[in-house]
Amino acid sequence: MTSEIRSIKKRDVKPGMFVHGYGCGTFHDPFVAVGRFVETYDDIAKYLPEETEQVEILTDKIFEKKIKNDHSVRSAATAAADLAEALPAARRIHEDALDYARKFIDDVRNGKEINIAEAEPIIGQVIESISTNESAAITLAFLKSYDEYTFTHCINVNLYSLLLGKALGLDSDELKDLGLAAMFHDVGKGRISNTLLNKPGKLTDSEFETMKGHSLQGLKVLSNIKGLSEDVLCGVFEHHERYDGKGYPQKIKGDEIHKFARIIAICDVYDALTSVRVYKQAMTPAKSLSLMFKWKGTDFDPEYFNIFIRIMGVYPPGSMVQLEDKRYAIVLETNEAFPLKPKVKILFNHRMQPIISECVDLASCSDDGRELKVLRQPFPASMGIDMKQLSRFLV
Ligand SMILES: [Fe+2]
Repeated sequence: MTSEIRSIKKRDVKPGMFVHGYGCGTFHDPFVAVGRFVETYDDIAKYLPEETEQVEILTDKIFEKKIKNDHSVRSAATAAADLAEALPAARRIHEDALDYARKFIDDVRNGKEINIAEAEPIIGQVIESISTNESAAITLAFLKSYDEYTFTHCINVNLYSLLLGKALGLDSDELKDLGLAAMFHDVGKGRISNTLLNKPGKLTDSEFETMKGHSLQGLKVLSNIKGLSEDVLCGVFEHHERYDGKGYPQKIKGDEIHKFARIIAICDVYDALTSVRVYKQAMTPAKSLSLMFKWKGTDFDPEYFNIFIRIMGVYPPGSMVQLEDKRYAIVLETNEAFPLKPKVKILFNHRMQPIISECVDLASCSDDGRELKVLRQPFPASMGIDMKQLSRFLV
C-alpha cells in the first residue's frame, strides 16, 4: 500500500503522474517541491522549468496500475444504473445522520447530555451504505447545501473516516468506535460562542487559544457519558495533533497519536477545504488534495494519506467536472487505475443548459478513437449552482 518516490527523466513524465518535485537537493540544484497531479502535457511545462532534467514522482499502485482488459471494467452506464439504485437508500441514511447531528449539536449547546445510543445505529447504517455502494455514499457528501456546514461537516468527516478506516482494515468494532470519534470530533465547539465560531477574518491570539480549547472541551463533554471507549475519547482529544508534533494540545507526534485521530485529521481538513465557509470560498477536491499533499508527513500520516487519495480519487463521485468539449458532467465513479479518468454522466452544455444525458467512461476511447478528457474541475457554488439540486439528475 505504501507509495515511493521515484526519480525519472523529465521527458518520461506523462499526464496521470503525481509530481513530487524536482532538483537534487544540493546547493547548486536545490530541491523544489511541486506536489501536483499532471493532468495534461501543458501541465508539464507549467510545473517544471525548462532546464529540469530529473523529476521525482510518487509511485503507487493507484497511479501506475494498468487495466488489463476492457472486460474487467464496468461500463459507465452500469455505474450510473447502480448509483441510481443505491442513492435513495443512501440518501435516507444521510438525512437521518444529518437530523441526528442537528439534535446532538443542539443538546451540547443547551448543556444536555448527548444520546449516544441513537448514534450507534446511524454509524452502523453508514458502514452498511459504504459496503453497498461507496460512490453513492461519497456522492451525498458532495451534493451538500452550503448553509449547513456545522451539521454536514460531522457527517462527512464520519463518512470519510469510515471509508479510510475500512481501507486500513479496521474490524467492525473498531469502525463503530472510529465513527463515534469522527461524528463527535468537534463536539467541544458546542462550548464556544457562535460569534467566535463564525467570526470572519483573522482571530486574535486569545481567540485562537479559546478555539484550540475545543479538543479539551470535547474530551470533557464525552468523558461524562457512559459507554464510550478510551479509543473514542483519544480520537476526539487528539484530532488536532499533527504527525510532526506541531499540533495541539499535547504536541505528540507520529504513532504516539491515536490512529483514530490520525484518520480524522485528514478527513477533517479535506472536508473543511472543500466546503464553503463564512470566511472563505470552497476549494475543488483536486486542489485540496494537491495542497494537502504538501502537508503529508508534516501534518498527516503519510501512509494513511496515500490511501485517502486512492479512495477519494482526484475527481470524487458527486463532484462536477468540465470536459475538453466544454460540456459539464457529474462524476459517477472513480477509476482506481486512472485517477484522472473517472466515469461521468454528462448533463449540461457549455452554457450550463441541460442536454440529453450521456454516461461516459473517460478511461475508454469512443468508437472513433476520440479520447475525452477532463478540462477542469469547476466549483459549482461559484457558478450559482446548488449541488443538492443536481442529485435529481442521478436517479
Ligand atoms: Fe476540530
